[in-house]
Amino acid sequence: MPTLAAYAYKKSMGQPFVYPLNKLSYTANFMNMMFSVPAEEYEIDPVIERALNQLLILHADHEQNCSTSTVRIVGSSDANLFASVAAGVLALSGPLHGGANQAVLEMLEEIKAGGGNVEKYVNKAKDKSDNFRLMGFGHRVYKNFDPRCTIIKDVADAVLAKLRIRDELLDIAKKLEEIALKDPYFVEKKLYPNIDFYSGIIYRAMGFPVNMFTVLFTLGRLPGWIAHWKEMRADKDKKIYRPRQIYTGEVRHFYRAGTYEPDGVVSASGCAEGVICKTDYSGHPYFPYVRSDKKDQPRVSIAARLVANLLETAGADRILTMDLHAPQIQGFFNFPCDQLFALKIICDHIKQKPDWRDYVIVAPDVGESKHLSKYTHILNLPLAIVDKRRIGNTDTVEPAHLIGDVRGKKALIVDDEVSTAGTLCKAAKFLKENGAVSVIATAVHPVLTGNAFENIENSVLEELIVTDTIPLNEKKSKITKKLTSVFISLLSVLIVAVFGRIGYAQDTTDDFEDRVLAISYELRCPICQGLSVGESQSTISNNMKDKVRELLREGKSEEEIYAFFEARYGEWILRSPRKKGWNLLVWILPIAVLFGTAGGIGFYLKRRQSALIKAGREPSAQLSEEDEALIADDMKKIRRDL
Ligand code: CMC
Repeated sequence: MPTLAAYAYKKSMGQPFVYPLNKLSYTANFMNMMFSVPAEEYEIDPVIERALNQLLILHADHEQNCSTSTVRIVGSSDANLFASVAAGVLALSGPLHGGANQAVLEMLEEIKAGGGNVEKYVNKAKDKSDNFRLMGFGHRVYKNFDPRCTIIKDVADAVLAKLRIRDELLDIAKKLEEIALKDPYFVEKKLYPNIDFYSGIIYRAMGFPVNMFTVLFTLGRLPGWIAHWKEMRADKDKKIYRPRQIYTGEVRHFYRAGTYEPDGVVSASGCAEGVICKTDYSGHPYFPYVRSDKKDQPRVSIAARLVANLLETAGADRILTMDLHAPQIQGFFNFPCDQLFALKIICDHIKQKPDWRDYVIVAPDVGESKHLSKYTHILNLPLAIVDKRRIGNTDTVEPAHLIGDVRGKKALIVDDEVSTAGTLCKAAKFLKENGAVSVIATAVHPVLTGNAFENIENSVLEELIVTDTIPLNEKKSKITKKLTSVFISLLSVLIVAVFGRIGYAQDTTDDFEDRVLAISYELRCPICQGLSVGESQSTISNNMKDKVRELLREGKSEEEIYAFFEARYGEWILRSPRKKGWNLLVWILPIAVLFGTAGGIGFYLKRRQSALIKAGREPSAQLSEEDEALIADDMKKIRRDL
């Protein structure tokens, strides 16, 4: 390393390279290679040789500092010594580390050039709005006077005396040290001069150029690095270094989920807003290409399966979505796919209509009818089914039969998604033809492509209720007033909230439903609470109630039951109702006492007055003993009656 360093220096100076001389000491040899020239003999000054030797030893090894740790980390991967040491050199080059002595000198030069106003720089270092730091001050580990500094100060004096140098920079450095050591800022923060504060001045006096200071630091530290590297390699239990991290960054990142076009292009058009959490948890209020989920004809592609594969390849390892067209899509993934339903929200919305009991729920096709049993259950309304038939080998589908009766009734078509609304409008017309007095419809996902808005406007449909799993096209929405978009943004917020929390969980999916419920209660938003998961919400809350009953049967106290749920859902239920109740008590009790006392006094005065009037006396301010007895008697009677 000294040979390399000296060679680089000589090359930069345009001087011939001086070969090493093995008879010399390590330091003397280095000085000879650096400073001797062929024209004259070079005499090595023993004072300077000793000083340089001391400096190199002082820098030799210094625990797990930035560069030594770097050498160990790189070496832990079994990288060879040269690669490991090269990494250490680069770590050392920074001005907060090995580059500090160079920075000190530059700082002292700057102070000198500015007229030597040391106080100004001390104030700059203290000013929080200024990035300036006193270079050569402070240390990550030493919060006291750097023990190396006591030695190096003597070395500096010895070198400068020997070389008969009067260095103005040393005077500035000493003045700076004197002021800083007395200043409360440096005293309180335990900022003392470190080894680099003086080493630069010494190196400069010895004739080393400033840009070689880090090289000298490397020379000193090298034996330490090699010792660390050898020690690590000799250790049979050595493992590659792998520091662990605690992630404190963004938990949720919004992104636009791509949809897959049959021509093989992933496009963002017409896709749903998605959410990716912790980079590998993917949330899709609307799962694209969901209707293409089975081979109903030979050779048709299953695009939903393809999207599942795309998401998996993109790195998702959990999916949260809403109202899948068919539950089997969950099986397209090799990892958990959880599904939420807008069922309860839509039912609650329907129930706000004064005439909701007059409706018949209509399934737009036989396949959908199974899914609708949950709607009929919650709304307790009859069901009718439109039996559709495909015309020839085309995409055209026409309603053919009606199963059930809609005559004289209002029809409510329930579907999971609406794209061009063509089939929906035909079904509405068909229902009217079969005697329905009016037809409205609901669909969770408003895909609304092509002429959907025009179709709806020109149809007999009176209203189409959708959710906001897909944002509506603002411009096109103006085409028709028949569209009611419920739960705008809240639904998305919930999705984010729910799965944002779920993303933290290291869970199995066993209690997924209970947790979603727990979160929705925590949010205390009626719409959120309405979001049902899997089965109807009541089933889930019954599960919770059952657990409470079971714990009560086991003789658990109320406290223990709370503790159970807190432990189970603590991460999701941040405010337990119990704590809220206690808070209320703190407010209510004093108010109740205040009102009670005021009421009592009022009651007493009223009784006193009526007792005196009854006895035919004036209710005077001065009461005689007789009056007091009369009132007490009256109060006793009242208490007895009560
Ligand atoms: N000048 C002014 N303020 C300082 C200085 C300084 N040189 N050093 C630290 N502080 C302040 C810092 O602003 C912080 O203030 P606050 O608490 O109000 O935010 C407080 O002291 C603690 O600072 P820190 O950065 O948390 O301390 P650290 O122990 O992590 O930093 C250091 C150690 C060496 C990087 C730092 O003191 C520094 O930047 N010194 C100047 C560069 C230097 O001399 N480096 C050579 C270090 S010794 C040789 C080596 O290891 O290579």
